[in-house]
Amino acid sequence: MITREEIDRVLQRYDKDKITVGTLGSHSALNIFKGAKEEGLRTVCVCTPRNEIIYRKFPLADHVIIVENFTQLLDEKIQEKLQRLNTILIPHGSFTAYLNTEQLMSNLYVPMFGNRQLLDWEANREKQREWLLKAGLKLPRIFRTPREIDGWVIAKFPGARGGRGYFLASSYESFERKVAAMLSRGLVTEADIEKIHLQEYIIGVNVYPHYFHSIIENEVELLGVDRRYESSIDNLGRIPAQEQLENEITPSYTIIGNIPLTLRESLLATLLEMGDKVVETAKRLAYPGIIGPFCLETAITENLEIYTFEISARIVAGTNVGIGTSPYAYLKYGGKMYMGRRIAMEIKSAIEQERINDIVT
Ligand SMILES: Nc1ncnc2c1ncn2[C@@H]1O[C@H](COP(=O)(O)OP(=O)(O)O)[C@@H](O)[C@H]1O
Ligand SMILES: [Mg+2]
Repeated sequence: MITREEIDRVLQRYDKDKITVGTLGSHSALNIFKGAKEEGLRTVCVCTPRNEIIYRKFPLADHVIIVENFTQLLDEKIQEKLQRLNTILIPHGSFTAYLNTEQLMSNLYVPMFGNRQLLDWEANREKQREWLLKAGLKLPRIFRTPREIDGWVIAKFPGARGGRGYFLASSYESFERKVAAMLSRGLVTEADIEKIHLQEYIIGVNVYPHYFHSIIENEVELLGVDRRYESSIDNLGRIPAQEQLENEITPSYTIIGNIPLTLRESLLATLLEMGDKVVETAKRLAYPGIIGPFCLETAITENLEIYTFEISARIVAGTNVGIGTSPYAYLKYGGKMYMGRRIAMEIKSAIEQERINDIVT
């Protein structure tokens, strides 16, 4: 694993007056670049030919480096180029989706705004669960085997897939029937089934609060909230029950976009405490804990119980709903604050206070 000392050595060669904010061209890149530009920093985008048009039509990247695929971020030449630009990388969902945590922790010598070790905690469902339980959060139950199913469960396959292929079952029989159907349609493999994760399905609404842990200010901030817009589950309500039964529709949870959300105010107390506790716990699990953005994925029931089913220890795409501002960012900062800009602001403060080593790993 790359040590902080090794990253410090890379930083020593950096011209701190010419820091460039870099990321992979996808997920929340526009958010990150816009924020960096608004704080007067330079930007570099590593992207594939397929998505280059995005960064041409929204010209926020000062440098565009084209790669055939995202794993090329690890190529020596690309890393050297990024280091020459004094790049600090902002990890987002595509880092963990296209590169494995081993590669991120051991082969990427470009300083990262964030804690690499926590990306590993995030990638592993058991570790995630341990982290959230230690923080005292309420979690959905898990079922070790399909035979234990005694109520609604959501069956999840290994690795973040943006919810693709997840399905619901309410008994051992319905689980077996659905697995058989998915196998015969080639949607999943036997190996996937072995590693399936069965989680209590929380009947409620999904709520994703976006937090920022500032190392410089020693504060946890709530900057926005979103809910997901998922295909096909979010539109099944448009199909009358009669027709649903006729066709035995299997819902899926493929993320298409995000919708901004403003919560009833009393919910904020619990959500703010949850953010603080997750940050405190992370410090004990992997020092210095969370650096910058993180998000909890929760479902809130009719009794206002908040269940957390996932954590992302990095910027989430849901923060894109706040580009410009969100009610919560506005309450704290006035207009023009959002996750991408908050990241850039932290980097700038760190540069000014000569504490850049404290916010990268
Ligand atoms: N325990 C649960 N209860 C209710 N809905 C859930 C639960 N777990 C996941 N979901 C739904 O499924 C979607 C994808 O689940 P998630 O575990 O976040 O997948 P991924 O690993 O792909 O991010 C969520 O956005 C949510 O709508
Ligand atoms: Mg998720």
